[in-house]
Amino acid sequence: MYSATKKVSAIESGGRDRAMFKRDTLLGEAAPVRGHHAPGLVMLIATLGASVPSIAQPDAVSRTVEIYAQRCSGCHGQEGDGLGPAAERLNPPPRDFTLGMYKIKSSGFDEYLPNDEDLLRMIRDGMPGTAMPAWGDVLSDQEMADLVRHIKTLAGYEADEKPSQQVEYGTQVLGSADSIRIGRELFLERDRCSECHGKDGKGDGLKSLKDDNGERTWPRNLTKPWTFRASNDPRDIYTRISAGIAGTQMPSFADPASDKVLSSEERWHVANYVSSLAKTDNVVRPDNTVVKAAKLVGRLPDSADDPAWEQAEPSTFFLVPQMLAKKRLFKPTNDTISVSALYNEQEIAFLLEWDDRTQSIPGDENAEKIADGQIFEDSVALQLPLDIPSGTEKPYFGMGDPTHAVNIWQWTSGTTDEPEQTSLINARGIKDIERRDAAGAGVQATGTYQDGTWRVVINRALATANPRQDIQFLEGRFIPLALAAWDGSNGETQSRHTMTSWYWLLLKSPAGSRPLIVALIVILAIIGAEFWWMRSASRRRRQ
Ligand code: HEC
Ligand code: HEC
Repeated sequence: MYSATKKVSAIESGGRDRAMFKRDTLLGEAAPVRGHHAPGLVMLIATLGASVPSIAQPDAVSRTVEIYAQRCSGCHGQEGDGLGPAAERLNPPPRDFTLGMYKIKSSGFDEYLPNDEDLLRMIRDGMPGTAMPAWGDVLSDQEMADLVRHIKTLAGYEADEKPSQQVEYGTQVLGSADSIRIGRELFLERDRCSECHGKDGKGDGLKSLKDDNGERTWPRNLTKPWTFRASNDPRDIYTRISAGIAGTQMPSFADPASDKVLSSEERWHVANYVSSLAKTDNVVRPDNTVVKAAKLVGRLPDSADDPAWEQAEPSTFFLVPQMLAKKRLFKPTNDTISVSALYNEQEIAFLLEWDDRTQSIPGDENAEKIADGQIFEDSVALQLPLDIPSGTEKPYFGMGDPTHAVNIWQWTSGTTDEPEQTSLINARGIKDIERRDAAGAGVQATGTYQDGTWRVVINRALATANPRQDIQFLEGRFIPLALAAWDGSNGETQSRHTMTSWYWLLLKSPAGSRPLIVALIVILAIIGAEFWWMRSASRRRRQ
């Protein structure tokens, strides 16, 4: 397993880790301490020029150094120490190139040095779920290859140096129901992967993980392939579980010293299982901006596991950190939220579902064990305009504005001493907030947490006795809707939270979507007319 102890012991053992050994001689330092100051690029460039004849042309080298300074140093630091000006607010932090240790590599588990192709791939394609951009459209292949050589030298490797061990792929086992079943058993066997990634792979293992720099890290939610640094293709997963993820607590399962080691064939089964975990429901479809509420004849569901929800069509949106008002959030953990809605003659019900690795109940032993610092309650809120706009005009996004009031319905998870709670706020901007009695206004909410997912149901009557204070829902109208979520184990409370932008809610009238169809026909007719006009205009011009 990669750990700080291994690094130190490698150094103590007299250079089993050649990178560290060489870097020490180069920089004249004893230990890889974050925050040190390397003696400047001049010396590194001199070394580079002397040892690598193939790119010794001073202008090629200085060109690479220039590109690095322009494109990379803002995050990775002028000297590659990972301490660029932007670094402070990034989680995960930018790589410290002077350590010569990389996450995504196909070299053997006992090697720090990746293959050049591994580095090139991360530079070209970027690292999803982090600030590391994809440079493939910006830099040429040659420029990226030169950068690979350059960053290797920042750790004291030769620009041409190659790792001696590689991940052994054996014979690939193709994905099948059988292989996935065996993979799941191995995943759960002695809590091999579930220890960190949770029973269903949502990253909700009861572990507080830190990377080698002491930064809080989270095991990947394996159902969200869009957050994988590499990909969720079985071959990539196989490579990760064989090589481990250096600098983090994700170990190698090819290492015979591990008591949970897996044979090559077993690793293929696990890789096929993990690949099969990718969500197909509740994923963001950027073209979907409307939560469509279906009309039911009977009773509405008042809990998350009510089968009636199958009749609803969930919409999933990205959650982004709140940056408008102080205090801002920079290191979010929640990234998407799904909304479903159903209504009947009297009432409307919303189901809000989001993956959260931690059930944050202040006072709870398990919650205290995994939290980093003080725990707050988990929470979710729904923001709706008090008056449904007639056009596309929406209230100001952050809690409305003086002429556009909003209703905010908020559910909080409760503590060991207090049960869950529902609250109601009317706001006309951040400075004009009125707290109201949620029960009095008929807003009711209840939540359940299971295997890394919160499900919260919120109900209210379509119409209330207080139309000047409460939104009155109407069929067939586009109603702005926005969401916010708080992960209390991530220090999120009050204005520190994630949120969506405005989307729309539409109560679909059951008599078919006639008003919508009419609107569509009108729009098509207008487009047709414009097209005809343009054609005839250009014909007129030609004549
Ligand atoms: C906006 C900030 C930012 C910029 C600019 C940036 N990076 Fe990164 N980079 C990161 C972060 C953050 C990580 C760490 C991601 C992680 O740990 O999962 C990273 C990681 C890397 C890695 C490590 C790959 C691995 O497998 O561990 C390489 C190599 C890299 N960057 C190269 C570059 C190069 C070359 C440039 C300039 C062309 C560059 N980066 C520019 C933020 C940045
Ligand atoms: C001790 C905790 C731990 C165990 C055990 C563990 N992982 Fe991980 N895993 C992590 C952490 C932490 C990360 C995120 C690393 C990072 O910060 O990039 C991760 C990341 C991953 C990734 C993401 C790769 C990518 O491209 O982003 C995959 C896939 C994965 N683990 C699979 C597994 C499988 C399969 C097992 C069991 C064979 C396993 N892990 C066991 C902690 C663990």
